[in-house]
Amino acid sequence: MPDQNKSQKQTRKQDPDLATIVRTTQGSYRVIVGRDVVDGLGLELRKTGQEGRAFLIADEVLFPGPVRRAQEALERGGYETHVLALEIGESNKNLATLEVVCSWLADRRAERGDVVVAMGGGVTGDLVGFVAATWLRGVAVVHVPTSLTAMVDSSIGGKTGVNLPQGKNLLGAFHQPKLVLQDVGHLETLPPREMAAGWAEAVKHGLILDADLLDMFERLAPQMIALEGDGPVEAIRRSVAIKGEIVSADEFETGDRRVLLNYGHTIAHAIETVSGYGEYLHGEAVAIGMMAAAGIATRLGMIDSELVERQRRVLESYNLPTQASNLDAEAIIDATKSDKKSRGGTIRWVLLEGPGQATTRRDVPDDVVLEAVQAVLD
Ligand SMILES: NC(=O)c1ccc[n+]([C@@H]2O[C@H](COP(=O)([O-])OP(=O)(O)OC[C@H]3O[C@@H](n4cnc5c(N)ncnc54)[C@H](O)[C@@H]3O)[C@@H](O)[C@H]2O)c1
Ligand SMILES: [Zn+2]
Repeated sequence: MPDQNKSQKQTRKQDPDLATIVRTTQGSYRVIVGRDVVDGLGLELRKTGQEGRAFLIADEVLFPGPVRRAQEALERGGYETHVLALEIGESNKNLATLEVVCSWLADRRAERGDVVVAMGGGVTGDLVGFVAATWLRGVAVVHVPTSLTAMVDSSIGGKTGVNLPQGKNLLGAFHQPKLVLQDVGHLETLPPREMAAGWAEAVKHGLILDADLLDMFERLAPQMIALEGDGPVEAIRRSVAIKGEIVSADEFETGDRRVLLNYGHTIAHAIETVSGYGEYLHGEAVAIGMMAAAGIATRLGMIDSELVERQRRVLESYNLPTQASNLDAEAIIDATKSDKKSRGGTIRWVLLEGPGQATTRRDVPDDVVLEAVQAVLD
């Protein structure tokens, strides 16, 4: 979409923190990425035309400092603001926590014209986003993602949901936010393993669609990891812009575009299933899954081994694993097949044709997959 890119570049000149504008059937929204941008939360929200009160729901790890700062910013924008701290993680991304949040909104008589602000990692964003999608049949939501995974991935695109005992994200809705505001300063307290997992998804965006971004990740790894200088902010902005562009082009994952984000994910999901959730962080499993996918692509003659090694080096420079231990290749293949069965049809593999160039293939022979999986197991 060259026209859109051009107009986005022009807008960026006047509005340097703007990473992208996501265009969806539920409206367009700005994604702002920078340092100290949280102080502009209320004023940015006002610009969207949003009125009413603000219900700020945040991961308790962000108390008191970052949440108070966000609350003050909302109040400066003229919003009466109520705050709820949630003790939240993957294990309570569930109906019980949903009920806690909804009861809190009910006690405060939150109305249709009010706005819910989700502040935290992807778990908070998914759960609070789902509350917003269903509270009074839908109220406005703003995302203030504070983990790298939430910044480059879950806060953009409108997917919300909670887990059931039977499986992850079984209950959910598409509910696009009014605004996404990402303050890179929030990442300073994120544990290093969570940072690395987020970098996996960001590097993935470079691998599938943006060779320049991939170069940047290679060149600036030490600065990125230390969050020094402008490099990290620029890389997160570009990674966010890629996700935003894909969502704008294929909002409901019905076309050929959004599926590219699943690079590495077929094997990643199988690794997560076989190893039991918790052994690998999702981003770590994605790093190993991307190595398996690269192994498939070389075996099919789509890329040379030099690109596979380049991918390995960049992932390792972000402290990500590229091999898995103590797992059985057959069990992983079985898990990809049961995933396939539940979706119907054949597996649609996302594979690279070159740096920054991904495509999909359905005709990958079983023995090629087996060899590529064996190659990423110790
Ligand atoms: N909606 C989507 O499109 C989408 C995409 C990818 C992932 N997800 C979902 O996102 C979730 C994973 O996201 P996540 O990795 O952010 O998980 P998370 O929300 O559990 O955050 C990871 C950890 O970091 C902590 N944390 C968050 N921000 C912090 C900060 N600034 N400082 C210190 N600690 C902080 C959290 O308390 C948690 O312990 C999963 O539930 C996944 O299903 C959704
Ligand atoms: Zn992922």
